[in-house]
Amino acid sequence: MASERLTKARDYEAEYGKRITKEERPVYHVTPTTGWLNDPNGFSWYDGKYHLFYQYNPYSTRWDAMHWGHLVSKDMVKWERLPAVLAPDTAYDGFGVFSGCGITAPDGRHLLMYTGVEEGIRPDGSLEPRQTQCLAYGDGVEYVKYENNPVITPEMLPEGYVAWDFRDPKVWFEDKEDCYYAIIGASTRENGGAVVLFQSEDLLEWEYVSTLDSSRNAYGYMWECPDLFRLGDTDFIPILPMRMLPIGTEFHAGNNPAYLAGFYDREAHTFERKGIFSLDYGIDFYAPQSMVTPDGRRVMIAWMQTPETMNRTPEGAKWFGQLTVPRELSEREGKLIQNPVRELEAYRTAPAFYQDVLVKEKTRLPEVAGRSLDLTVRVKPAGGTLYQKFTVKVAEDDEFYTSITYDPAESMLCFDRTYAGFRYYIISERKAHVRNRDGEILLRILIDRFSVEIFVNEGEQTMSNTIYTRQSADGISFETFGGAAVIDVEKYTLEV
Ligand code: FRU
Repeated sequence: MASERLTKARDYEAEYGKRITKEERPVYHVTPTTGWLNDPNGFSWYDGKYHLFYQYNPYSTRWDAMHWGHLVSKDMVKWERLPAVLAPDTAYDGFGVFSGCGITAPDGRHLLMYTGVEEGIRPDGSLEPRQTQCLAYGDGVEYVKYENNPVITPEMLPEGYVAWDFRDPKVWFEDKEDCYYAIIGASTRENGGAVVLFQSEDLLEWEYVSTLDSSRNAYGYMWECPDLFRLGDTDFIPILPMRMLPIGTEFHAGNNPAYLAGFYDREAHTFERKGIFSLDYGIDFYAPQSMVTPDGRRVMIAWMQTPETMNRTPEGAKWFGQLTVPRELSEREGKLIQNPVRELEAYRTAPAFYQDVLVKEKTRLPEVAGRSLDLTVRVKPAGGTLYQKFTVKVAEDDEFYTSITYDPAESMLCFDRTYAGFRYYIISERKAHVRNRDGEILLRILIDRFSVEIFVNEGEQTMSNTIYTRQSADGISFETFGGAAVIDVEKYTLEV
């Protein structure tokens, strides 16, 4: 039976969810039923469907008292909304039902593992939000918290860890060992952020195995939302280092989405780090989570927002927070490659193709416009001297635009939403150092009503960004500075 707090949330979302029209939401990006959304949670395949949950405050467009919202889909593009599944309604998670994952339990039930935050009070009266890992079993619609929660507590960690920064479990099954593992985000007093590994045979009794890697005081004080998977010959550990100093153009100051690339020794349970890279070079990308589809693809989805600007709700917003499109992951030269899931292609309409268009001054193409587009632009030098800059403007009208500019001499791609129509100061620009291909660059740009996601050079790098420009600004233009370029353009409208 749903608790009073969960019933209240469900009644509220049923009532207020109806008041948000289809036109007020993105076309193909996930938003909360009502109120606030942050991390994707419990992304999994269960009972013939994709299940996707999310950090959810139905009552306002601000982060508060985390619940779990719920969606299901056959193809990860068209989602159906289901009632919220978890509310902060027990002593061990009364401060919030934080992020976690989903897996099919041995008895066939859907199992969610999440972080419960307990509102503990220290002897001096200050708040101690202790974090533990908890379970909830369900049938794909109704979920019941496990009676012996929590199953993992901070006391099970070795000395030196912080009890209120221990969260976001991601569980998987290792066939070879016939055993479950959970990777969990943590914070050590001496080394800063870390990822720890726990092990269980039945998902109920857990024990600490090892610390896979840590910040070594160079990458933030806490690592949130870890994941672990192998692609090709490389093991990848996505992490969210918090409060970092900037490092070149790879990491900005503050909280970053990153990944460790290296080798995870499945017997010794150690991880040898070979590199650490940004997971997305845009402004709005955080808290990714991945799963394996029934046909064996590793797919990742993330919160398309940043903690830095999360309280900047657009005026009059009825919802706040979107997820990225789900992305198929692969490995190339030890790095992570991301491309939109192929299922998206089934929603393409109104195609238009242009080849070898010479671009010098501002150029528009007759059929290239809109605010729900799958747009691919291949830029090539126009022979002779190399152009200095090439710019695509999207969501453009006579007052507003968002630009994507490539500088081939510096191999730098710059996203800029300064003139996107914000009336408050916000982070507007971000740069990505991309592979130098002698003036060539391939950009796949997914535009939705409230976002622009860029996939560079077949997914070698991505830049995810939100924009809230008025919807009538639907122009697209191309322009070259200091020389000319030749472009091929492939455009589809996306309709879901
Ligand atoms: C990441 C995060 C997680 C936490 C959740 C709370 O955005 O801070 O670490 O579980 O959000 O909503």
